[in-house]
Amino acid sequence: MNESAYLKQLLTLAAKQLKTVVLPESEDNRVLEAAHYVAEIKAVKPVILGNQNHVEEFYKAKGWSLDGIEVIQPETSDKLTSYAQMFYELRKDKGITLDDALKQMHNYNYFGTMMVKAGDADGMVSGANHSTADTVRPALQIIKSTQKGRSVSSAILEVINGKAYILSDCAIIINPTANELADIAVDAAQTALQFGIKPKVALLSYSTKGSGKGEGVDKVTEALSLAKKQLQQQENSIIQIDGELQADAALDAVVAAKKAPDSQVAGQANVLIFPDIEAGNIAYKLLQRLAGAEAYGPILQGLNAPINDLSRGALVEDIVGMIAITALQAAAKK
Ligand SMILES: CC(C)(COP(=O)(O)OP(=O)(O)OC[C@H]1O[C@@H](n2cnc3c(N)ncnc32)[C@H](O)[C@@H]1OP(=O)(O)O)[C@@H](O)C(=O)NCCC(=O)NCCS
Repeated sequence: MNESAYLKQLLTLAAKQLKTVVLPESEDNRVLEAAHYVAEIKAVKPVILGNQNHVEEFYKAKGWSLDGIEVIQPETSDKLTSYAQMFYELRKDKGITLDDALKQMHNYNYFGTMMVKAGDADGMVSGANHSTADTVRPALQIIKSTQKGRSVSSAILEVINGKAYILSDCAIIINPTANELADIAVDAAQTALQFGIKPKVALLSYSTKGSGKGEGVDKVTEALSLAKKQLQQQENSIIQIDGELQADAALDAVVAAKKAPDSQVAGQANVLIFPDIEAGNIAYKLLQRLAGAEAYGPILQGLNAPINDLSRGALVEDIVGMIAITALQAAAKK
């Protein structure tokens, strides 16, 4: 496994608080390898959901120990009925029956999410074998957003030439309203702070400070003013925010000096907010594939407890990184 300097740093930080992270995809060898890696260096305590024999045979064939790893088979777990009861209580207003709830707990993403809700685990990482929707839906239904009515969104932590950037939202809210875009910007800045990044937030567009016109530009400028209001209410002066900025004006000091000379963010942005999921998702994957950026995420933001998604193309090191990130988010919540 290729452990970059950044990943090493994440693992060292995670090891200080040894959190429990559920991994519901034991059918995927990359997940089993990642669990071994984090357990062996005592960075995180993984809980693997799946068939005990299958997991034991995989580890035996590799010559690895299961020390520091818990394996739970949801179907035979003594928690199955209590989790079903809890899920039923949470969702009965939506018309589900206790029987529906019990069936749902046989879905490992639901069982794992319920472990987090019940306090039996600190966080969960899934998505190596599931779509974003399948990973995120249980979290939205069970863990819920920190504020009623506020949208959960996501961020990608990308490391390019040793420097960390937050890109948001690349995975959840398909076409955010100005209000949602403002929430995304503020929550992405908070995510940046969790990872030691002093946020300089750029709301990206095809226009810089009125150079272009259109509905997309109007949405971004409205989002900027709404985000500024939120930050003023929070009396948050650590977070600097500006827009609308083109990517070159956001990142390049020479271009910034020409296009947005008065901006405190232009030329130095490290939190990049995209006007919609198409721009965000395409941009983060281009950086990963063409510029060799390390990409961790989608990291969900605005949830009451950390549940995180993986790209189905994730490498073992990406999964290890997401397990460490989830543990660090859990540590920050306590
Ligand atoms: C996130 C996503 C999966 C949720 O959609 P969904 O599963 O159809 O969710 P639903 O509309 O059925 O909503 C399920 C619950 O979550 C809530 N919800 C949906 N999106 C939410 C959000 N962004 N924040 C908070 N709650 C949300 C709903 O209000 C609903 O709550 P309730 O059942 O308690 O009333 C959807 O936005 C999506 O598909 N996004 C794009 C994912 C994707 O393809 N990404 C690209 C690859 S990385």
